[in-house]
Amino acid sequence: MKHFLTVEDMSANEIISLLDMTAYFRQNEPKISEQLFIANLFFEPSTRTKMSFTVAEKKLGLEILDFHAETSSVKKGESLYDTVKTFEAIGANALVIRHEDDYWAEELANVSIPIINAGAGKAAHPTQSLLDAYTIYEEFGYFEGLNIVIAGDIKHSRVAHSNIEMLTTLGANVFVTGAPEFIDETINVPYISFEQAIKHCDVLMLLRIQHERHNESFDISAYHKQYGLTIQREKSMKQNAIILHPAPINRGVEIDSSLVECGRSRIFKQMENGVFVRMAVLVNQLLQWGIINDYKIKKCANTKGEQPIRKVRTVN
Ligand code: CP
Repeated sequence: MKHFLTVEDMSANEIISLLDMTAYFRQNEPKISEQLFIANLFFEPSTRTKMSFTVAEKKLGLEILDFHAETSSVKKGESLYDTVKTFEAIGANALVIRHEDDYWAEELANVSIPIINAGAGKAAHPTQSLLDAYTIYEEFGYFEGLNIVIAGDIKHSRVAHSNIEMLTTLGANVFVTGAPEFIDETINVPYISFEQAIKHCDVLMLLRIQHERHNESFDISAYHKQYGLTIQREKSMKQNAIILHPAPINRGVEIDSSLVECGRSRIFKQMENGVFVRMAVLVNQLLQWGIINDYKIKKCANTKGEQPIRKVRTVN
């Protein structure tokens, strides 16, 4: 049985299938009919990911085990492994984990309940990539040939690492841009200048400057001038190009504050989509592990009509 930890080993069809499940959950609100316990174990701060998992779990009728690292036995020195084994022992049916270590999942491979990665250090953030992909899919309906530029603090970004993997698998042309000191040399996609990126992209994915992961001081105004999306630069984007950002946003650093909610911004749409993506991932894991079967997902009273999952497109 496979935990949901990375996008690296996912095929295009597996990704599209999850996006189609997401579309289903946007239209339908099925509940899981039996009592199941989910714990959201966040060892790093989060607003969007933690709260959208919480909303997703509540919409599905799952019971959430309340955990706050700062008031738990983690403060007495309990390790991640022993915390996870404790939740497994007391009857949690699945775990959602965010932790600052890039490799936290390695020691949890044999845990007998599904684990969903909600962020691993600088390495991976698979549900963020899925919601980014869903937002692009909703906009364009395809990935093949789209020019997607990831701009900013690539080196410290788990979002960049997961998105490069996922969007390349889906057939998009993925590029990176930004200050050379933030480019990760291990990444195998072309680097283009910021001005080229702005003019030619269909999707501009801006990343937060991750001050908490930097050792050196940083000149915000110089960065904004050279690598920020300013009102002037936004004017040279293609007519139908969209702006994404995983947030939280440093307004006035990677993006001018007035562009955060501009016509081509999908930043809050991404957050909205995050709930349905996380419903899809949770249900997919519970189904794959045999914890639920199709019969246990009941439609609730407020279901908005019969909306079958769209036919899964085959991606070559
Ligand atoms: N995008 C994202 O992961 O946001 P949070 O850190 O608030 O969860």
